[in-house]
Amino acid sequence: MGDEDLFYPTEAFLSALRDAMSCTGLQGVRDRIKGALATMDVPGDARGKPRKRPALLLEMKKALQARTEERAKHYVKKILESFLEEKSNGISDIDLTRWRDYDEVITDSLWIFQRRDRSGSHSAWYWGNFVPQIPRQLMLMFTKKGDWVLDPFVGSGTTLIECKRLGRNGIGIDIDGKVLEAARSSIESEPNPFGATVMTFRGDSRTFRLSDVVPEGGISLAVLHPPYHDIIRFNGIEGDLSGIGSLDDFIEALGQVFENTIGVLRPGGHMALVIGDKFSRGQWYPVGFLAMQRALACGFSLKSIVVKNFTETKGKRGQSDLWRYRAMAGAYYVFRHEYIFIFRKPSGRRPKLISDQKFPSAERAGVVETGQRRQIEGLVP
Ligand SMILES: C[S@@+](CC[C@H](N)C(=O)[O-])C[C@H]1O[C@@H](n2cnc3c(N)ncnc32)[C@H](O)[C@@H]1O
Repeated sequence: MGDEDLFYPTEAFLSALRDAMSCTGLQGVRDRIKGALATMDVPGDARGKPRKRPALLLEMKKALQARTEERAKHYVKKILESFLEEKSNGISDIDLTRWRDYDEVITDSLWIFQRRDRSGSHSAWYWGNFVPQIPRQLMLMFTKKGDWVLDPFVGSGTTLIECKRLGRNGIGIDIDGKVLEAARSSIESEPNPFGATVMTFRGDSRTFRLSDVVPEGGISLAVLHPPYHDIIRFNGIEGDLSGIGSLDDFIEALGQVFENTIGVLRPGGHMALVIGDKFSRGQWYPVGFLAMQRALACGFSLKSIVVKNFTETKGKRGQSDLWRYRAMAGAYYVFRHEYIFIFRKPSGRRPKLISDQKFPSAERAGVVETGQRRQIEGLVP
């Protein structure tokens, strides 16, 4: 939403609302609210934090339509608070006094994205990458600016590009060095308006020593988008989870990544797992729910299960008739959804970090850094 939709409060606007709070009688309150509305298009000494005009106008309308003086004043008080106070849940940057302004933030458990965000450095060159809207939504809900985000299956770098856009610091790991090279150049070409630090490492996320690279304070959000078992074979590299063998072995390997991740999450931090099921030889394998059970066994608590649509994947592109026929012939349903499980690390469990050893291997390991070491240390919460 552009600047034209923002309203910066003027003294005339605020004092009309203050008058509404101190006057008596419903009509008097309504007259003051109308007075405040009349000031909205008059240029003045605008200052302070802005509101989105459509959301503010809706709240003003509610105040005007209230049937009792008490109710009308309740709405006016909330509007005043939205300009003069801030309220946070401690997890995100969402200011709860003006929650109506965050129209971008999804709060339902069904996510339907009609099309992939292809803006800036985002592109769909990597088969098996997720839509950028997924990490973006997760970061808006579960992190603040300056927090650290971990992606242990970073692939083409979608999460880290979003980190730069939103001013979150990011660490990405992938087992495939070639993919990482390509990811690094996409990440570097994305502007960095908030000076975020992003780093990538080649490694096996089951065993990679995360404590060597995660700063003191730990990770606030881990976004995991592993292979969905063997649905896409990513590479022939030893340790690649898509070539791991049986489904049981895959879930166990994923469990090792969860254990590694929980170790560096800050207490109360979140882990989001993006995963889909598989269908093979007439049987549906609930890969997502099996992975969810494995994460719960690590000590996470479950906060949400989101179901997200997906449209045609590269592998099924242009074959919708064929898949529809196959579904009818085999009496099954074609996958059109995947899951995003959101877990929380209990507050009592502290991260395992080597606190006196900041970024020892970051400098050794061919790190992509946007910023200097000094800058990194300045950003450590
Ligand atoms: C589904 S893709 C992730 C795509 C990514 N979200 C994106 O938007 O590009 C899974 C990635 O996990 C990587 N991978 C597989 N096994 C791994 C392991 N043991 N450790 C680290 N990365 C692994 C693969 O190389 C692949 O890039």
